Amino acid sequence: MSQPESQARPQARPLHVTITGAAGQIGYALVFRVASGQMLGPDQPVVLRLLEVEPAMGALEGVAMELQDCAFPLLADVVTTSKLDQAFDSASWALLVGSVPRKAGMERKDLLNVNGGIFGPQGRAIAAHAAENVRVVVVGNPCNTNCLIARSNAPEVPNDRWFAMTRLDQNRARAQLAVRAGVSVNEVANLAIWGNHSVTQFPDFANATIAGRPATAVIDDEGWLRGDFVAAVQQRGAAIIAARGASSAASAANAVIDSVRSVIEPTPEGDNVALAVVSQGQYGVPEGLQFGFPVMSDGSSWRVADGFGVDGYAREKLRITTDELLDERTAVQDLLA
Ligand code: NAD
Ligand code: LMR
Repeated sequence: MSQPESQARPQARPLHVTITGAAGQIGYALVFRVASGQMLGPDQPVVLRLLEVEPAMGALEGVAMELQDCAFPLLADVVTTSKLDQAFDSASWALLVGSVPRKAGMERKDLLNVNGGIFGPQGRAIAAHAAENVRVVVVGNPCNTNCLIARSNAPEVPNDRWFAMTRLDQNRARAQLAVRAGVSVNEVANLAIWGNHSVTQFPDFANATIAGRPATAVIDDEGWLRGDFVAAVQQRGAAIIAARGASSAASAANAVIDSVRSVIEPTPEGDNVALAVVSQGQYGVPEGLQFGFPVMSDGSSWRVADGFGVDGYAREKLRITTDELLDERTAVQDLLA
């Protein structure tokens, strides 16, 4: 008699996943999804390494108790700690969420003073303690520049391992186009997010497709695309804060899952995934900026997608968001190694 498939399959070695700020809003929406296998797949056991600041350790213990109570088959162990060396020990994925969210009336870059200092020490701890194959997704805002700070403090970790999260913007933009066109989000593809996860980002409708046709042909309203659409995506985070009294959490956690999957799974033909990666000068973006690009993955390595049309209007949008990232970089010079 043959064994059931689940018993016959060899058990993979657990991968260690670090989640910082794990007792916070996003953390609470994220840890259970990672533990259930939604991020790394149904055959991949995980060890969760959850980092919090001392005052939140009690709440973090509660999260760990709930994880235990889920009896997730893939959850090999949970480590709770306020120490960076323990948090990043052996980590193959480091999800850097822990930081302060903005309040109504603030821009994300207003958080640089309070959050920037978190990411240098974390970068150094990643370089010293994480697994050789570590990959890092920075969520804490302003995420592009925080990622730059962490990366600059971890020169031992190759540049292609560092990502800041622009996937939430891509998901938002696809959803807006789908609603306007009256189609499923599955019909919207190749929507790029350029630049900073901020109000200057450029959600690029011109290269997007809807049901295989140019989005600009399906939504024949350039005024809406350049106006309300771009503004709605740029300001969606603020709109959520105004409505909820707190910044996005479940949709942000969902975008973290999407970001990781988009790195470890091949990108479908005719589409791209939004990630802020280290610029090597593509599309005229200065080298070294952590810049939102359209990315293609083959499941093990990735590249910035080429061949995206950039007309005069888009070029100006890219200039504005590039200038903001250059200003942010200047503002954190003392945090860069
Ligand atoms: P939150 O305040 O609910 O949780 C943050 C948690 O981080 C808290 O539990 C806090 O104790 C912890 N923390 C603070 N400093 C820490 C440190 N040095 N080390 C470890 N943990 C630390 O906030 P949230 O809603 O979960 O948001 C977290 C961050 O994510 C914010 O900066 C927010 O702006 C950002 N964010 C980014 C995106 C994106 O698309 N990139 C989307 C949503 C939110
Ligand atoms: C978002 O886009 O929802 C987050 O970056 C939170 C924020 O401050 O807008």
